[in-house]
Amino acid sequence: PVPAGQGFPGIGFESIPAALAPLPDAVRVPAGYTVEAFVAWGDPIVAGGVAFAPDASNTATEQARQFGAHCDGMYLFPFTGAGGQATPDRGVLVVNNEYTHEEILFPDGQVGASGYGIAKTRKSQAAHGVSVVEARRLNGRWTAVKNSPYGRRITANTPMRIAGPAAGHALLQTVEYAITDAGSSATGLTTDGRVAQGTINNCGNGVTPWGTFLTCEENWNGNFGSTAALPSATSGDTGKLYNRYGVTASGNGYRWHTTDPRFDLSTNPNETNLFGWIVEIDPYDPKSKPVKRTALGRFKHESAQYVVDAANRLGVYMGDDERNEYIYKFVAAGAFDPLNRAANRDLLDTGVLYVARFDADLTGRWIPLLPETLGTDGVALRHNPNFAGADDAEVLAKILIKARMAGDAVGATMMDRPEWTGARPRIGGYQQVELYCTLTNNNRRGSTPVTATTPAANAADGSTTAGSARPAVDAANPRANNLYGHVIRWRENGASVLATTFTWDIFVQAGDSATTKTPKSQYEGNIVDTPAGSADFGAPDGLWFDPFGRLWVQTDQAGNAQGDWVNIGANCMVCADPNTGEARRFLTAPPNAEVTGIAMSADGRALFVGIQHPGEDAPASNPQQTSSWPASQWPLRADGVTPLPFGRPRSSVVVITKDDGGIIGT
Ligand code: FEO
Ligand code: CA
Ligand code: CA
Ligand code: CA
Repeated sequence: PVPAGQGFPGIGFESIPAALAPLPDAVRVPAGYTVEAFVAWGDPIVAGGVAFAPDASNTATEQARQFGAHCDGMYLFPFTGAGGQATPDRGVLVVNNEYTHEEILFPDGQVGASGYGIAKTRKSQAAHGVSVVEARRLNGRWTAVKNSPYGRRITANTPMRIAGPAAGHALLQTVEYAITDAGSSATGLTTDGRVAQGTINNCGNGVTPWGTFLTCEENWNGNFGSTAALPSATSGDTGKLYNRYGVTASGNGYRWHTTDPRFDLSTNPNETNLFGWIVEIDPYDPKSKPVKRTALGRFKHESAQYVVDAANRLGVYMGDDERNEYIYKFVAAGAFDPLNRAANRDLLDTGVLYVARFDADLTGRWIPLLPETLGTDGVALRHNPNFAGADDAEVLAKILIKARMAGDAVGATMMDRPEWTGARPRIGGYQQVELYCTLTNNNRRGSTPVTATTPAANAADGSTTAGSARPAVDAANPRANNLYGHVIRWRENGASVLATTFTWDIFVQAGDSATTKTPKSQYEGNIVDTPAGSADFGAPDGLWFDPFGRLWVQTDQAGNAQGDWVNIGANCMVCADPNTGEARRFLTAPPNAEVTGIAMSADGRALFVGIQHPGEDAPASNPQQTSSWPASQWPLRADGVTPLPFGRPRSSVVVITKDDGGIIGT
């Protein structure tokens, strides 16, 4: 066990072994804990939903009432009982559905015997987005409620509002479509830049202190494509944006644009600008319209972690997950009102977006992305041609839409892929404002400049800016080939979210303590564990503090226990002590699955964890080759459905309880 310390309650379990080859097709947790299936891709969660068809023959309409694909960030919103206390036995679990694996989404794969058409596009779109699931504990057992009035699917085709400083800008005005099962037909009108249809690539998440869910749009660029050549990468807003955000004619292989012109860059070039935002969802009101909050900037959002400081001021901390991108924070202009939920409704629409610079002396600076801010060239952003506008309101709109380019202009620190941010709870006498961020890996740091000059070539290289130098190592990103990633943390000066300066350090460098790679110091990491090597992990991604002060870190590496991962094994989740860094391995994943998404019941006695893309790296010719999880672990599910013994793998949320009924982690 790991003893307690300031603001930290200790860890009561011992590390479980790494899952090594041959990998078990199962989730493993420590002795004294039980893991059960909670909800899987295709389970009905909305009234009228039908059971999952193991051959993937569910239609788009059916998928739109079922749990979406490839679950990611999540949060369990409790209901409020008599006396205002959270109800520990009932809540709504809101879960991101990041993307789809088209080869398992359809009976015959993306382009099989039936070819590819709008029906497949619509099903893929319906599997993206967000799932709202009512969760109930009855006789100690958690179940996902079917036909719940709270059950909801938000998909790539759900109407949304755009709010904040960029709303209405010309870059957000798009071709308007009438969207039906049969297709999307242009109405002949242009939107007003204040409406959007849907959300995609919902990766990590956040919540607000007033009880709303924040879904984060990450690799949205990959769902677009073009039936014609794209504009030049060096001239005009559209070409520059496509280049900087990695928008290409072929995307990530989706074929939506071939049947749905809304996603065809050649006919609807501004649609991309409606994605890359933080979207706020009210989980308690199934009829509420989601809102894209432009004040928080547009990039490839990974997660969003709020902090309310002692003065009730609100900050939201966010990473942009791509190699050599930035860490941001938004500070709301108004204070959070803990007594009046409605008063906070539009708090995320007005404030200042900052980008982080990490300096070698272990201090850092938040640089405001405002019209008057000077770039490293000494020119105010309002005079930079990328952001110039009719007035400062338009300049600010452009800064937010092109947040990455604003970060470039002011000299923000290029990081090793910022994934989740997490805030250490202000409990037990611990009153700092301390944030942690996973930097998952980076193989593009070093001295070789990027030479690719087209968006397609840049994307292939994992880059976004032609001609940019690969950054050298720096104090905050110290490994030239950061294969295993690290976790950085910072403390806001004055324990205030308003701080424009902070101090920082590296919490842990992940690694393989038994590595045979050289130089060993680049790869072995400095994880604190007893015995040494017992909690090795790599590619940290999900990161979350539970309300008791335990830090949970989830990983996203190849997950095949081969090559660089032969000693570390399958993906895992560890629990760590923020005071000492000491870590314990709590969970291991099935083959080729990532562990992502975590939520806790209000009483701390149930932990929900996401298992994403089991079997992902199997060949397209046989996508079920490496995993048939969760059927492999639970042939007979609690709902009485018996999946095919070797059916296709399904991303799922599991629920973990302690056999003695205690709090998870004790
Ligand atoms: Fe969707 Fe950066 O993980
Ligand atoms: Ca992630
Ligand atoms: Ca992944
Ligand atoms: Ca990742």
